[in-house]
Amino acid sequence: ARADLKGVLLEINKAAAQYFYVQLKSEHGAQALDYLKRRELDDETIKGFGLGYSNKYSDDLYRYLKSKGYADEMIAKAGLITVDEKKGVYDKFWNRVMFPIMDANNRVIGFGGRVMGDAKPKYLNSPETVIFDKSRNLYGLNRARSSRRPYFLLCEGYMDVISLHQAGFTNAVASLGTALTPGHASLIKRYVQEVYLTYDSDEAGTKAALRAVPILKNVGISARVIRMDPYKDPDEFIKNLGAEAFEERIQKARNGFMFSLEILERSYDMHSPEGKTGFMREAARRLTEFEEEIERNNYIEAVASSYHVGYEDLRKLVTKMAIQQG
Ligand code: UTP
Ligand code: MN
Ligand code: MN
Ligand code: MN
Ligand code: MN
Repeated sequence: ARADLKGVLLEINKAAAQYFYVQLKSEHGAQALDYLKRRELDDETIKGFGLGYSNKYSDDLYRYLKSKGYADEMIAKAGLITVDEKKGVYDKFWNRVMFPIMDANNRVIGFGGRVMGDAKPKYLNSPETVIFDKSRNLYGLNRARSSRRPYFLLCEGYMDVISLHQAGFTNAVASLGTALTPGHASLIKRYVQEVYLTYDSDEAGTKAALRAVPILKNVGISARVIRMDPYKDPDEFIKNLGAEAFEERIQKARNGFMFSLEILERSYDMHSPEGKTGFMREAARRLTEFEEEIERNNYIEAVASSYHVGYEDLRKLVTKMAIQQG
C-alpha cells in the first residue's frame, strides 16, 4: 500500500495548502497579508503561488485535518504535526507565512514557512517525507517549465523566485534551502541546457555559485553567473532597480568558468610577478579539466586574452600539466 500512502500524503498537503490560503484571507491572516503586501506581492502572485498563513493556535491545522478524516499517523507522516509524549500533538507551522512547495506536476509536496519578524529560524521547512525529496525538487519548477526562455534562473530563495516571476521572469527556480545537488542538475536537464545562477551576493552565495558550476557541467548544462550587487539578492535587486535592469544583468552574465577565475584572483597578488604566475598555474590546472580539445582551446584563448598572457605560452603550460597529471 505504498503508492496509496503517497496518495494520502499528497491529499493531506493539498488540504493543508488550501487551509493556509483560506486563513491568509480570513481575519486571522490580516497581519500576514499585510506582510506580503509590504513585500510588494500582488493578489495574483499570492494566488498563483498559493501563499498562505499558519495561524497562532497551536493545533488548528491538526484539528482541521482530523475533521476531514485523516489519521494522526498520516498527518504526522506528511510532516505537518509534531507528536510529543508530554505536550501532545501540535502543528509544526505556527504563525508563519506559508509557501507551498509543488512538484513539476503542481502537486503540493511540502511547505516552507517564514516568520514575519526576526525570530529564528527565519524559514521552517517540511521535513523530508516519502513525497518530499529536497534534492530532487525545485521551487517554482511547476511554473518555470512552461517559460519560453531556453534557460532557468537558479536562485536561493522562495522570495527570489516569486519576485522574479512577478516581474515577468517566469523561468526562475530555487533549490529548497539546500545546496544544488546532482539530482537537481538532472532534473533541470529535462527542461533546459543552460542555467543562469542568480545567488545572493554575499560570501555564502558566491561559494554556492562556484560549487554549482561543475555540478551543472557534469550533466552537460552550461552555467552563467549573474551578479546582484550592490543588492543582497534578486528580490531586493528587482525591487530597487526593476525588471529592465535585471534583464541587463542577464545580458552581462559571466561564463561560470571565467567567474570562478575572478573569484580565484582574490587569493593572489595579481600585481606581483610571483602572484600572477601562481594564479596562471592554477588557472592552467583548471583548464586541463576541459577534455574536449576545441572547448579547452576556446577557454585557453579566453583566459589568455582576459589576463594578458600569450595564448601559446598558456596552451603549453596547460598541455604540460595535463601530461603531469597523466
Ligand atoms: P536567505 O537567508 O537568503 O533568505 O535564504 P531569503 O530567501 O532572502 O528570505 P527573505 O527575503 O529574507 O524572506 C535563502 C533560502 O534558504 C532557505 C530558504 O529556502 C530561503 O528561501 N532557508 C533560509 C531556510 O530553509 N531556513 C532558514 O532559516 C533560512
Ligand atoms: Mn480559526
Ligand atoms: Mn542567502
Ligand atoms: Mn536571500
Ligand atoms: Mn531575500
